[in-house]
Amino acid sequence: MNFKGRDLISIKDLTRQDIDVLLDLADAMPPASKSGLDILRGKVMATLFFEPSTRTKLSFESAMYRLGGSCIGFSEASSASVAKGENLADTIRAVESYCDIIVIRHGLEGAARLAAEFAKIPVINAGSGSEEHPTQALLDIYTIRRQFGSIDGLSIGLVGDLRYGRAVHSLAYGLSLYDIRLWLISPDPLKMRREVMEDVMSRVKVVEGRELHEVLGKLDVLYMTRIQKERFADLAEYEKVKGSYRLTSEDLKGVKEKLVVLHPLPRTDEIAFEVDLTPYAKYFEQVRNGLLIRMALLASLLGALE
Ligand code: NCD
Repeated sequence: MNFKGRDLISIKDLTRQDIDVLLDLADAMPPASKSGLDILRGKVMATLFFEPSTRTKLSFESAMYRLGGSCIGFSEASSASVAKGENLADTIRAVESYCDIIVIRHGLEGAARLAAEFAKIPVINAGSGSEEHPTQALLDIYTIRRQFGSIDGLSIGLVGDLRYGRAVHSLAYGLSLYDIRLWLISPDPLKMRREVMEDVMSRVKVVEGRELHEVLGKLDVLYMTRIQKERFADLAEYEKVKGSYRLTSEDLKGVKEKLVVLHPLPRTDEIAFEVDLTPYAKYFEQVRNGLLIRMALLASLLGALE
């Protein structure tokens, strides 16, 4: 499997075998408490974040430092030359002179793909509008595999904003490469995007619904998501669906013993804090796994594992 020099724009850029190899590599990364491997010494990563981020940006930077590399970048479009009217292609052609790999988050769908077309160095999509967030999907799949040993055979429910949530789009594509059963639970206006549905349904069994409590007892994995307020063109539409789901510890009575509750974070009100104290809550473990996945990814794309 050769990842050197490749981009990661969509999870669809990866085969099931690619994903499995990346998860194996993440397993081989040193835990955060140990000193780094130093395999990326001299390499520079640029993070171009045109949209807010806490976990994704910091975990990429931490991953780079832990492997001996270094980081440059910006986290606000207002501090970069786009604020002066520069186009993305020019920004990319300038930035690639300063680094070995680019990690980009942008509000526009297709922006990461465009960046990859202009850059000669690898580009990683850290979130492209409502479209995709492939590295989040990798860390989600990794977390599920660590919990259950494999992905095949599981019943997985994606809940919340399946229309605007980029993480669930990538996750649905990625999970559909495995032998799973997918439950998609959302309010009607926030149903899974058609193009994702059509693609995923060609490979796995999918059931759509609105009521979480009707399916909760059947699930091995419950993936909660935030309603993406910032993506609504009309806030009145957001008001109609906000607060659609709120998981409490009461809801968890009668679930499968090994149920795993995940969330890409940040959460708003869809998971009550009391759930954090239950054995089902694995979303902070997900955060830790994100570091390992991003270490594996940077090392692979930069050719440090050959
Ligand atoms: C997600 C995102 O940015 O799409 N956050 C993340 O990267 N962990 C999910 C979200 O913002 O709801």
